[in-house]
Amino acid sequence: MPVELLEGERETILSEVENTLQDKEKTRENLIPILQQVQKKLGYLPGLAMEKIGEALGIPAVDVFGLATFYDQFRLNPPGEHEIKVCMGTACYMTGGRIALDSFKRKLEINEGETTSDRKYSLERVACVGCCTMAPVVVVDERIEGHVTATRVDGLMLELQGEAGKEDHAEEEREEEQEGEEREEIQEEGEQEQ
Ligand code: FES
Repeated sequence: MPVELLEGERETILSEVENTLQDKEKTRENLIPILQQVQKKLGYLPGLAMEKIGEALGIPAVDVFGLATFYDQFRLNPPGEHEIKVCMGTACYMTGGRIALDSFKRKLEINEGETTSDRKYSLERVACVGCCTMAPVVVVDERIEGHVTATRVDGLMLELQGEAGKEDHAEEEREEEQEGEEREEIQEEGEQEQ
Protein backbone atom coordinates (compact mmCIF):
# COMPACT_ATOMS: atom_id res chain seq x y z
CA MET A 1 0.00 0.00 0.00
CA PRO A 2 1.43 3.44 -0.88
CA VAL A 3 2.16 5.64 2.14
CA GLU A 4 0.45 9.00 2.53
CA LEU A 5 2.32 12.12 1.51
CA LEU A 6 3.79 14.27 4.28
CA GLU A 7 2.98 17.93 4.70
CA GLY A 8 4.61 19.91 1.88
CA GLU A 9 5.68 16.76 0.03
CA ARG A 10 3.17 17.26 -2.76
CA GLU A 11 4.72 20.65 -3.61
CA THR A 12 8.24 19.18 -3.55
CA ILE A 13 7.22 16.35 -5.88
CA LEU A 14 5.55 18.72 -8.35
CA SER A 15 8.51 21.05 -8.45
CA GLU A 16 11.08 18.24 -8.87
CA VAL A 17 9.04 16.74 -11.70
CA GLU A 18 8.74 20.13 -13.36
CA ASN A 19 12.51 20.79 -13.07
CA THR A 20 13.33 17.37 -14.51
CA LEU A 21 10.92 17.80 -17.40
CA GLN A 22 12.46 21.16 -18.24
CA ASP A 23 15.85 19.51 -18.84
CA LYS A 24 14.59 16.70 -21.05
CA GLU A 25 12.75 16.33 -24.32
CA LYS A 26 9.24 15.07 -23.57
CA THR A 27 9.38 11.88 -25.62
CA ARG A 28 8.46 8.29 -24.78
CA GLU A 29 12.15 7.31 -25.22
CA ASN A 30 13.02 9.59 -22.34
CA LEU A 31 10.55 8.02 -19.91
CA ILE A 32 13.13 5.83 -18.12
CA PRO A 33 15.81 8.55 -17.79
CA ILE A 34 13.12 10.95 -16.46
CA LEU A 35 11.89 8.40 -13.91
CA GLN A 36 15.51 7.71 -12.88
CA GLN A 37 16.23 11.38 -12.38
CA VAL A 38 13.07 12.03 -10.37
CA GLN A 39 13.77 9.00 -8.18
CA LYS A 40 17.34 10.23 -7.61
CA LYS A 41 16.02 13.56 -6.38
CA LEU A 42 13.10 12.28 -4.28
CA GLY A 43 14.53 8.96 -3.08
CA TYR A 44 11.56 7.11 -4.60
CA LEU A 45 8.91 7.39 -7.30
CA PRO A 46 5.64 8.65 -5.82
CA GLY A 47 2.39 7.91 -7.70
CA LEU A 48 1.83 11.64 -8.15
CA ALA A 49 5.19 11.99 -9.94
CA MET A 50 4.39 9.10 -12.30
CA GLU A 51 0.99 10.61 -13.03
CA LYS A 52 2.47 14.03 -13.88
CA ILE A 53 5.29 12.54 -15.99
CA GLY A 54 2.74 10.43 -17.88
CA GLU A 55 0.61 13.53 -18.54
CA ALA A 56 3.60 15.49 -19.83
CA LEU A 57 4.77 12.69 -22.13
CA GLY A 58 1.27 11.71 -23.31
CA ILE A 59 1.60 8.21 -21.77
CA PRO A 60 -1.26 6.76 -19.68
CA ALA A 61 -0.36 6.71 -15.96
CA VAL A 62 -1.10 2.98 -15.85
CA ASP A 63 1.67 2.35 -18.44
CA VAL A 64 4.16 4.48 -16.49
CA PHE A 65 3.25 2.59 -13.32
CA GLY A 66 3.55 -0.76 -15.14
CA LEU A 67 7.03 0.09 -16.37
CA ALA A 68 8.17 1.30 -12.94
CA THR A 69 6.98 -1.89 -11.28
CA PHE A 70 8.66 -4.03 -13.96
CA TYR A 71 12.15 -2.71 -13.26
CA ASP A 72 13.75 -3.48 -9.88
CA GLN A 73 15.69 -0.22 -9.99
CA PHE A 74 12.55 1.78 -9.22
CA ARG A 75 11.19 2.01 -5.71
CA LEU A 76 7.57 3.03 -5.33
CA ASN A 77 7.67 3.70 -1.60
CA PRO A 78 9.87 6.09 0.36
CA PRO A 79 12.84 4.60 2.18
CA GLY A 80 12.06 4.11 5.87
CA GLU A 81 14.12 5.69 8.64
CA HIS A 82 15.39 2.15 9.10
CA GLU A 83 15.94 0.18 5.91
CA ILE A 84 15.69 -3.58 6.25
CA LYS A 85 16.97 -5.67 3.35
CA VAL A 86 16.58 -9.43 3.37
CA CYS A 87 18.93 -11.36 1.10
CA MET A 88 17.17 -13.78 -1.20
CA GLY A 89 20.25 -15.03 -3.04
CA THR A 90 20.49 -18.80 -3.40
CA ALA A 91 22.51 -19.49 -0.23
CA CYS A 92 20.24 -17.32 1.92
CA TYR A 93 17.07 -18.63 0.32
CA MET A 94 18.15 -22.22 0.95
CA THR A 95 19.03 -21.59 4.60
CA GLY A 96 15.91 -19.73 5.72
CA GLY A 97 15.91 -16.29 4.07
CA ARG A 98 12.21 -16.72 3.34
CA ILE A 99 11.51 -17.35 7.05
CA ALA A 100 13.37 -14.14 7.98
CA LEU A 101 11.47 -12.19 5.32
CA ASP A 102 8.09 -13.55 6.46
CA SER A 103 8.94 -12.75 10.10
CA PHE A 104 9.70 -9.12 9.21
CA LYS A 105 6.50 -8.90 7.15
CA ARG A 106 4.46 -10.14 10.10
CA LYS A 107 6.20 -7.86 12.60
CA LEU A 108 5.96 -4.74 10.45
CA GLU A 109 2.60 -5.60 8.87
CA ILE A 110 3.88 -4.67 5.44
CA ASN A 111 4.96 -6.56 2.34
CA GLU A 112 8.36 -6.48 0.72
CA GLY A 113 8.83 -3.26 -1.24
CA GLU A 114 6.65 -1.37 1.23
CA THR A 115 7.19 1.18 3.99
CA THR A 116 5.29 1.41 7.29
CA SER A 117 2.76 4.26 7.37
CA ASP A 118 4.88 6.17 9.94
CA ARG A 119 7.86 5.80 7.52
CA LYS A 120 10.01 4.29 10.26
CA TYR A 121 10.73 0.99 8.48
CA SER A 122 10.98 -0.17 4.89
CA LEU A 123 11.41 -3.79 3.83
CA GLU A 124 13.07 -5.08 0.69
CA ARG A 125 14.35 -8.33 -0.70
CA VAL A 126 17.78 -8.07 -2.30
CA ALA A 127 20.09 -10.29 -4.34
CA CYS A 128 23.28 -11.81 -2.87
CA VAL A 129 25.10 -9.28 -0.73
CA GLY A 130 28.35 -11.25 -0.82
CA CYS A 131 28.41 -12.83 2.67
CA CYS A 132 27.02 -16.26 1.77
CA THR A 133 28.94 -18.01 4.57
CA MET A 134 26.76 -16.07 7.03
CA ALA A 135 23.48 -17.08 5.34
CA PRO A 136 20.71 -16.24 5.86
CA VAL A 137 21.73 -12.59 5.83
CA VAL A 138 19.77 -9.43 6.59
CA VAL A 139 21.11 -5.91 6.13
CA VAL A 140 19.71 -3.39 8.60
CA ASP A 141 20.75 0.20 7.89
CA GLU A 142 23.94 -1.02 6.15
CA ARG A 143 24.76 -3.34 9.08
CA ILE A 144 25.13 -6.98 8.06
CA GLU A 145 23.41 -9.53 10.29
CA GLY A 146 24.22 -13.20 9.68
CA HIS A 147 22.50 -16.48 10.53
CA VAL A 148 19.20 -14.67 11.04
CA THR A 149 16.45 -16.81 12.53
CA ALA A 150 12.86 -15.80 13.33
CA THR A 151 13.95 -15.23 16.94
CA ARG A 152 16.77 -12.96 15.80
CA VAL A 153 14.22 -10.97 13.77
CA ASP A 154 12.30 -10.38 17.02
CA GLY A 155 15.55 -9.25 18.67
CA LEU A 156 16.47 -6.93 15.80
CA MET A 157 13.03 -5.34 15.90
CA LEU A 158 13.28 -4.80 19.65
CA GLU A 159 16.69 -3.15 19.16
CA LEU A 160 15.33 -0.89 16.42
CA GLN A 161 12.21 -0.01 18.39
CA GLY A 162 14.41 0.73 21.41
CA GLU A 163 16.52 3.11 19.33
CA ALA A 164 13.41 4.75 17.90
CA GLY A 165 12.05 5.14 21.45
CA LYS A 166 15.31 6.79 22.56
CA GLU A 167 15.26 9.14 19.55
CA ASP A 168 11.63 10.14 20.26
CA HIS A 169 12.47 10.70 23.93
CA ALA A 170 15.48 12.88 23.06
CA GLU A 171 13.30 14.89 20.69
CA GLU A 172 10.67 15.39 23.43
CA GLU A 173 13.38 16.52 25.85
CA ARG A 174 14.70 19.03 23.29
CA GLU A 175 11.19 20.40 22.74
CA GLU A 176 10.56 20.68 26.49
CA GLU A 177 13.88 22.49 26.94
CA GLN A 178 13.01 24.92 24.15
CA GLU A 179 9.54 25.55 25.60
CA GLY A 180 11.13 26.18 29.02
CA GLU A 181 13.55 28.72 27.53
CA GLU A 182 10.71 30.46 25.72
CA ARG A 183 8.66 30.63 28.93
CA GLU A 184 11.64 32.13 30.79
CA GLU A 185 12.14 34.75 28.05
CA ILE A 186 8.45 35.74 28.19
CA GLN A 187 8.64 35.95 32.01
CA GLU A 188 11.76 38.13 31.85
CA GLU A 189 10.15 40.41 29.28
CA GLY A 190 7.07 40.71 31.50
CA GLU A 191 9.20 41.59 34.53
CA GLN A 192 11.10 44.26 32.58
CA GLU A 193 7.85 45.85 31.44
CA GLN A 194 6.51 46.16 35.00
S1 FES B 1 23.09 -15.41 -1.04
FE1 FES B 1 22.79 -14.11 0.64
S2 FES B 1 24.72 -13.32 0.99
FE2 FES B 1 25.01 -14.54 -0.75
